Amino acid sequence: MNTYLEIKSVHAREILDSRGNPTVEADIIVLNGNDGQFYLGTAAVPSGASTGRFEAVELRDGEPRYFGLGVQHAVKNVNEKIAPALAGENALDQFRLDRLLIELDGTENKENLGANATLSVSLACARAAANALSMPLYRYVGGAGAHLLPVPMMNILNGGKHAANTVDFQEFMIMPVRADSFGGALRICAEVYHNLKKILQDRGLSTGVGDEGGFAPDLPDAESVLELLVEAVHAAGYIPGDDVRIAMDAAASELYNEKTGMYHFPGESSLKGQEVIRSTEEMISYFEKLSRNYPIISLEDALAEEDWDGWQKLTERLAGKIQLVGDDLFVTNKKRLAAGIKLGTANSILVKVNQIGTLTEAFEAVELAHKNHYTAVMSHRSGETEDTTIADLAVAWNTAQIKTGAPCRSDRVAKYNRLLRIEEELGKAAEYPGLLAFHVQ
Ligand code: PGA
Ligand code: ZN
Repeated sequence: MNTYLEIKSVHAREILDSRGNPTVEADIIVLNGNDGQFYLGTAAVPSGASTGRFEAVELRDGEPRYFGLGVQHAVKNVNEKIAPALAGENALDQFRLDRLLIELDGTENKENLGANATLSVSLACARAAANALSMPLYRYVGGAGAHLLPVPMMNILNGGKHAANTVDFQEFMIMPVRADSFGGALRICAEVYHNLKKILQDRGLSTGVGDEGGFAPDLPDAESVLELLVEAVHAAGYIPGDDVRIAMDAAASELYNEKTGMYHFPGESSLKGQEVIRSTEEMISYFEKLSRNYPIISLEDALAEEDWDGWQKLTERLAGKIQLVGDDLFVTNKKRLAAGIKLGTANSILVKVNQIGTLTEAFEAVELAHKNHYTAVMSHRSGETEDTTIADLAVAWNTAQIKTGAPCRSDRVAKYNRLLRIEEELGKAAEYPGLLAFHVQ
């Protein structure tokens, strides 16, 4: 008997994200024709701060309430336009439903309905279907093969747009590549995090945290951050470069100045008392030097989203040694990724479901990456909620890596805790890839 999960209702509401800004949450109720029961699926949408120029549109009201950030129009789009269009459809037809959402919007970047409106529905649909089939989300989305836990790319020191400190690069992360389970990996990360806190305290540096739960002290440059990270790994009893590698997200689009064509470092400038500016060539050499001196395995958005020439040079020089992740560059968009693959740009894509606005399109980006030997890193946004969908998606799509913040703040820890539960549920089938998550060793 073919299962039909009839969509009975679609309802969205405005809730708050981890920064106290509004975001969209949707409920979908389906009727399972097999057992005559109703099932609910709920999903909430995250939101970025260092948003890429080519992301799908996050619809904001632009009215006085919430400083213009209200999402009542997006909510209305779900309740008045999407709900009638999906009524009676089969929630099992995820691809078809996502195509309906794309058609209903009718634009390249979802500016009519809002990617926040479409994503809430797309994810809630998958959740309702999984619930109706009594399956965990990772199993429903990924099928029988879903068994790979991701290596955390854990952001323990925040800068850039995610904190009010002087650190110009946005994220300094640790990756436990030698653990034998996800649980073991998480423990390593948490122990390093606590050691980092102690080191900062001992030096009289701030232990306040940024948007993603990492510490946000004032430090003069990337080298001083990397020194601290290496020290914290040692202090926790692990070997930097062996047990734990380092990842960085420069979020360089935020540093790039179109007028000068250069990368500006405001924090470094203020602490050094002189203007620090780097050209594309100097940025590449700088990263080359950092990766020689520190155990860096992954580097995200090292250059700006439109600096394709620079990205090509960067890839030629560094791709054999480290993972080069495109976030603002690819924006989870298979067309931009295809262009990058053709040019030989980067070797990895960051996957943020709200950058593209449907589950299907995010899946297509991961699929295209894997087919072309690019790695894919499942990712949160700096504005998150208690929604843990990305933890399940990382396992479902065998991304083998996940970036979801520090072991601090429940919006971040919820994803790690979900992965602990998945690992427990998978039992013997669970696999932690460690270094196998990378094409570079
Ligand atoms: P965002 O930051 O969510 O603020 O865009 C995350 C990232 O740049 O990877
Ligand atoms: Zn990024």
